Amino acid sequence: MLNKLKQWKRQQNSEDVDERFQELVKHPIPGHVAIIMDGNGRWAQKRALPRVAGHHEGMKCVRRITKLANELGIEALTLYAFSTENWKRPKMEVEFLMKLPEEFLGTFLPELVEENVQVKMMGNKEDIPPHTLKAVSKAIEATKDNDGLILNFALNYGSRAEILDSIRHVLNDIQNGILDEKQLNEEIFSTYLMTKELKDPDLLIRTSGEIRLSNFMLWQLAYTEFWFTECLWPDFGKEQFTEAIEAYQGRSRRFGGIKSEES
Ligand code: IPE
Ligand code: IPE
Ligand code: MG
Repeated sequence: MLNKLKQWKRQQNSEDVDERFQELVKHPIPGHVAIIMDGNGRWAQKRALPRVAGHHEGMKCVRRITKLANELGIEALTLYAFSTENWKRPKMEVEFLMKLPEEFLGTFLPELVEENVQVKMMGNKEDIPPHTLKAVSKAIEATKDNDGLILNFALNYGSRAEILDSIRHVLNDIQNGILDEKQLNEEIFSTYLMTKELKDPDLLIRTSGEIRLSNFMLWQLAYTEFWFTECLWPDFGKEQFTEAIEAYQGRSRRFGGIKSEES
């Protein structure tokens, strides 16, 4: 009896989530959503599984959220998959994480091609193993003519390193007469970043209850709306994604100004 009641409640809830998800398009949809996918290790530990089992489960979640983002007409989804600091982890975990793009793209690339998704990557390519880069490059190439959702993986990405590299590049261009120092402004500097083809994120989501940026898109997040959840990444689904977008739609973005009706 109790189980039936539970089942019924769950059904009600899932219908409710579907309905709420459908309603989202009636309000402004964030153009660029960035996600710090955190909590895979804790998800596994809670189940007495090795941490890597959490990473594997998290991969399915990437597929789930990509589909939903595409359905909503979101233009770009940037996913923090591996930070420049994640090399500090045990070798076995790092190796597992570096195999995930191959597995993910090996399974889902045909679907991504079919669904008009464009795969992109940002991060320092130098230290990424060739087998990982090969899988990513293949996906970028296979989806380069698509013009739907941009699925941008932040892989071996660190924001401070990105900013420093951009500064080096700017200095070099000034020295070589390609850029006039007086012309340098925020807009031009942005074109030196790894995100040059993307607009700044409108919404940042971080799962697992951590309230920090962990060296993620420090420049680009200057005016982004933040949404944090206790939910661990492998448990993140339609309900949580809907909740995040609803929260975004309830925010008042002023960019330092005042709301037009107050003027
Ligand atoms: C996020 O999950 C995935 C990566 C950082 C690669 P974690 O592995 O950080 O999971 P927790 O934070 O230890 O639970
Ligand atoms: C941030 O998560 C990096 C990714 C999600 C890829 P971490 O788990 O590495 O961050 P910290 O160490 O808790 O700040
Ligand atoms: Mg973590």
